Amino acid sequence: MKAKYSILLPTYNEKENLPIIVWMIVKYLSEEDCDYEIIIIDDGSPDGTQEAAKQLEKIYGSDKILLRPREKKLGLGTAYIHGMRHATGDFIIIMDADLSHHPKYIPEFIKEQKKGDYDIISGTRYIRDGGVNGWDFKRKLISRGANYLTQVLLRPGASDLTGSFRLYKKGVLQKLVDSCVSKGYVFQMEMIVRARKLGFKIGEVPIAFVDRLYGESKLGGNEIFQFVKGLMYLFAFV
Ligand code: GDD
Ligand code: MN
Repeated sequence: MKAKYSILLPTYNEKENLPIIVWMIVKYLSEEDCDYEIIIIDDGSPDGTQEAAKQLEKIYGSDKILLRPREKKLGLGTAYIHGMRHATGDFIIIMDADLSHHPKYIPEFIKEQKKGDYDIISGTRYIRDGGVNGWDFKRKLISRGANYLTQVLLRPGASDLTGSFRLYKKGVLQKLVDSCVSKGYVFQMEMIVRARKLGFKIGEVPIAFVDRLYGESKLGGNEIFQFVKGLMYLFAFV
């Protein structure tokens, strides 16, 4: 039996990006000896992302592209959980839909996972030839700051805690989700911290993160506040 990979793409106003990212994922995954499906979790984007997704379902087939929308913008963390409920793969890959995460890394994630039978592969911007392109100083500071604070307070032993390009064994993701409390961007960090505590085996693949060309980031002051709150919670109780 071939392994099956479910790729979760959360979207909010990604009409321009979605067709390109889907095309690229299909390109890289059809070169692998595996099965796959792409699950689009759109939160009622007003820009017509769902119409684009429906077109893609027609083009690639509804076994490859699954639109699993929600009514309104309910946050990134719960979007993954929603997508996961519909996933039939042995492995789940989560990534941003705005082309910041290049699908060329997916085969590298798969290879690395097999190499050490890892429970999780985390794409990292903070080791070896990983990096960030196109962010201003403020955004770099926020990311570095969030990582540094978490490293100091929680010592999770992974180099990129806030990144969201990852591969999980399905059962592992399920266990982690069951124990996670956060709902927004802080979800990524909590997942890795909990994974360490539960003794899961985490591998890392360096990635270059490229800031989006189309549309804008949904990260704002509230997400940062939620992050700090989440961090304090984990520091105190986990
Ligand atoms: N369904 C859904 N619901 N999707 C969402 C929501 C939401 O509430 N908020 C954001 N998204 C989608 C976006 O459409 C995009 O595909 C992806 O989630 C990431 O959102 P961005 O708004 O582009 O995030 P970013 O570029 O600022 O942040 C990236 O870097 C952060 C820090 O390193 C992401 O990778 C974050 O996950 C990461 O924490
Ligand atoms: Mn982005």
